[in-house]
Amino acid sequence: MIFFKKNKTILKDLIPEGFIDIHSHLLPGIDDGAKTIEDTIFLTNSLKNFGFEKFITTPHTFSGFWDNTKEAILKKENDTLETLSSQNTTVDLKAASEYLLDDHFASLFKKGEILTLKDNLVLVEMSYLNAPIHLYDLLFDLQVAGYKPVLAHPERYLFYHKNFDEYKKLKNAGCYLQLNLLSTVGYYGNEVTDTAKRLLESGLYDFVGSDVHHSRHIKAFESKVLIKDNKGLEALIKNNSFFK
Ligand SMILES: [Fe+2]
Repeated sequence: MIFFKKNKTILKDLIPEGFIDIHSHLLPGIDDGAKTIEDTIFLTNSLKNFGFEKFITTPHTFSGFWDNTKEAILKKENDTLETLSSQNTTVDLKAASEYLLDDHFASLFKKGEILTLKDNLVLVEMSYLNAPIHLYDLLFDLQVAGYKPVLAHPERYLFYHKNFDEYKKLKNAGCYLQLNLLSTVGYYGNEVTDTAKRLLESGLYDFVGSDVHHSRHIKAFESKVLIKDNKGLEALIKNNSFFK
């Protein structure tokens, strides 16, 4: 009888002490993430228990849905930190944003009115339905303006699954690629996990993020990792120390 060795690793056990998260929705009432300060406290405490130490949290800037501005996000960051400290809760949290790649974003970065993760690195996303028509012009203009794109969860863009070379094209166009940790446990479906596995094996990822919005995401950190290459995953997770 042949026994196959199964991966019994639980996602939360892959998080190293002092982990820095670069993608989450923890500021209350500003997007589809935390709704209240109680949510913020619950989410940050839960993640701290897994080993998260610092949060670069990234509310959506999504024209027509989440019309956040740099000023509004910074005010919310400030108010949230004040409320937390008045409740004797200390959280190492700083705000950036997750920008939808569209013309509105282009108008913002041309004026320098954007929040970066660190230095000139800016978190960007696309619609889940299709890439923007002028994607490569946008990426080019963003870099001419002095920024470097970190593309959130490339594995979740289903329209790229059958065109794997597009991922290499995105890298060649200057994008860093950020894996959503929950893609490794099947949270977004098997196809997303398979693509994450392939991107990991191809060495195309640069960073990871939790993309936590709510308690269901926290619960999913207790799930089994479906990608067998723990070593590769651990090495990738360590890359986030760049954001110290
Ligand atoms: Fe996100």
